[in-house]
Amino acid sequence: MKPRILITREVFREAIEYVSQHCEVESNQDDGALAPDALARKLADKDGVMCCLTDRIDADLLARCTKLKAVANIAVGYNNIDLPACTARGVMATNTPGVLDDSTADLAFALVLATARRLTEVEGYIRTGEWTGWRLKQWLGVDVHHATLGIFGMGRIGQVIARRAAGFDMKVLYHNRKRVAPEIERRLNATFATKDALLGQSDFVVLQVPYSKETHHLIGAAELKLMKPTAILVNSTRGGVVDDGALVAALKSGAIRGAGLDVFENEPRLNPGFLELKNVVLAPHIGSSTEATRLAMAMTAAKNLVAALTGGVPPNLLNPEARQS
Ligand code: GLV
Repeated sequence: MKPRILITREVFREAIEYVSQHCEVESNQDDGALAPDALARKLADKDGVMCCLTDRIDADLLARCTKLKAVANIAVGYNNIDLPACTARGVMATNTPGVLDDSTADLAFALVLATARRLTEVEGYIRTGEWTGWRLKQWLGVDVHHATLGIFGMGRIGQVIARRAAGFDMKVLYHNRKRVAPEIERRLNATFATKDALLGQSDFVVLQVPYSKETHHLIGAAELKLMKPTAILVNSTRGGVVDDGALVAALKSGAIRGAGLDVFENEPRLNPGFLELKNVVLAPHIGSSTEATRLAMAMTAAKNLVAALTGGVPPNLLNPEARQS
């Protein structure tokens, strides 16, 4: 008998076709996130699930879905999955690293540029018909080229952002739990800095750390105070890495110049303070959202899931211990 799986929300046809060759598929193509109880009910008789970052795979759900053997997240971040709980129950969990590095780095860089050059503000000015003519000192922004970029989190995506920065002749500082290898530092022309030095010296601070208990509110009031009043913060990694209340206060008081944000605490119900501010550029968690990349992510998840359920080793297995238990 084919393994039974659930696809929790809308994905690409190609991914459904692929998993259907190997599995009996129930697919929710309404594109609404299933409520936790509905998700648990649908998963009660399933061997696997292809899910998104909006689906919480936690200990309660796993306790109710005892047939589950594999969880394939269509995301690189997996803070929606309780990995220790999966491992304890012998449930394999996978993510989609690699295929989204470039697109996510592009979006981080788009936020750097858009915030520096005030693109959403000026577009609003045109759309409301306020533009009456060119002026020398109109809408002055700040330069990205030759500025200092501080990258928090020098994993795969952080490194791709550093490569983008080289094209803009930026000085690159980075902070990471572990210093990267000297040849990577050399290739990226990136200098390791302490957290405080990075915050104090950067014109643009870009966050690229995964969300976890350890990175919760990594940037709060104290850290924002260390930044230059002319500096810009970009968060395109995960809500919760920044204390959004503290960020709203810093942006209001001019403690920092601006922020480019793709992710928020409690998204999509973001802090209403952001909507009142002009010095933020806001995006609805679209870091990896290009046609090619989201398709590649869905296909990666599909292949991980099929491998897990047909006796293979999923290429992006997060908890190899689960496979043995
Ligand atoms: C998107 O946010 C991801 O983690 O892939």
